[in-house]
Amino acid sequence: MTGFDAIAGTACAGTLYGIGVGPGDVRYLTLRAAALVRDVDVLAFFAKRGLQGNARGIVDPLVGPGRTELRLEYPVTDEVPPEHPTYQKEIAHFYEESVVALSELLRQGKSVGLLAEGDPFFYGSFMHMWRRLNGDFPIEIVPGVTGMSGCWTRANAPITWGNDILSARGADHALVGMPGWQGSLLFDGADPGSGEAAVSGSLVIVGLGPGPIELLTPAAAAALQAATDLVGYETYIDRIPKTIFSQRRHASGNRVEIDRARHALALAAEGNKVAIVSGGDPGVFAMAAAVFEAIEVGDPAWRELDIRIEPGITAMLAAAAEVGAPLGADFCAISLSDNLKSWQTIERRLRAAAEGDFVIALYNPASRARPRQLGRAFDLLRATKSPEAIVLFVRSAGTSESRVVMTVLAEADPALADMRTLVIIGAAATRLISRNGRRPWVYTPRAEQAVVR
Ligand SMILES: C[S@@+](CC[C@H](N)C(=O)[O-])C[C@H]1O[C@@H](n2cnc3c(N)ncnc32)[C@H](O)[C@@H]1O
Repeated sequence: MTGFDAIAGTACAGTLYGIGVGPGDVRYLTLRAAALVRDVDVLAFFAKRGLQGNARGIVDPLVGPGRTELRLEYPVTDEVPPEHPTYQKEIAHFYEESVVALSELLRQGKSVGLLAEGDPFFYGSFMHMWRRLNGDFPIEIVPGVTGMSGCWTRANAPITWGNDILSARGADHALVGMPGWQGSLLFDGADPGSGEAAVSGSLVIVGLGPGPIELLTPAAAAALQAATDLVGYETYIDRIPKTIFSQRRHASGNRVEIDRARHALALAAEGNKVAIVSGGDPGVFAMAAAVFEAIEVGDPAWRELDIRIEPGITAMLAAAAEVGAPLGADFCAISLSDNLKSWQTIERRLRAAAEGDFVIALYNPASRARPRQLGRAFDLLRATKSPEAIVLFVRSAGTSESRVVMTVLAEADPALADMRTLVIIGAAATRLISRNGRRPWVYTPRAEQAVVR
């Protein structure tokens, strides 16, 4: 049988070894890594000020007394945001100094093992050295078990099955493992070797969808993950799991949209990566318009900011999906809230929608402060529409608590609606497909009867 040492090999003079030391347990080192930790002339490692250094701590049981070590101590880590110019300047300088120190040793013909937590080529400082030294000196990479393998091993959770897609992202060391998305790590492909973080602030206006995290789009999740700051109405901020999104949070009350928008813009202008969130879609009776209203009359510098919108599934679509296809033909959406427009305007639009025979989706049908609007809207619609027009009350659409009431306009009871309800009023063609012992489907045919071929 070949001995361990013969398999693991030894270190060569003047060579830099990037030694992956795995996720945190010395027993998970490869034979090659363990041998080099004992054999190299100089054991180098990165460490935060005042701490031993994670990678160095992992190999401690293998390091005997009197070893020559090179401690490369970061001038800053999390005291300053990575996008801050001070951080970038100090870190860039630190990497240059580290390269000088390593080069000096290699030039003297010493073998140097630079420890890397997990794998040397998977997020980490080693790559900053590799990028600068590759080509000037021989470099050998010793792969390691990555931290993410450690996570799913410790969680005893198989991570990918069948056709699952695995991707990963590096920002904030976050492992994104959402319920229903097991096996999906987001890998954002950021240049691991640049050492320079993004400089300017940005604002992304993100739709969270109707509630469950499964209905958050992957693009919206990635936008949240990439942010440094989350801004929003407290109910929506609370929906974002802290276990997955560890960003700074700025929650505010329901009625302060413009102030919230200004706050988000100011944070972005200071250089932060801000995500401002809305339930459903941010462009539907929500924060996207508030942000642009704030920009229109606000600080001219806000117009130059990098601003982006990530759409979400709006309540109307989630509600329609609960019942069939009520929005299958022309439809319109009207908010019954008269906080930002007059009741006369709402009545005019309802009348026009009824006369145009649109399917009508009513957002904000009722609240404690506005208990009577929906009753008044039904009365107005009864003047134009058939008493048999289908009316749907869909509460908490798209969530496990969703509740649907189907009725007709003549019998529609406004008391069935609250702040979490979306009301859909069918057009003349909207109809039911009955089913045995089950709620009928509701749908609106795409074609008018007269043009059906
Ligand atoms: C201020 S609007 C915000 C709409 C949101 N931006 C969207 O796209 O869904 C709030 C209204 O949306 C409707 N709504 C939001 N989420 C809902 C859900 N899950 N089920 C039913 N209605 C919902 C309700 O009518 C509520 O009063």
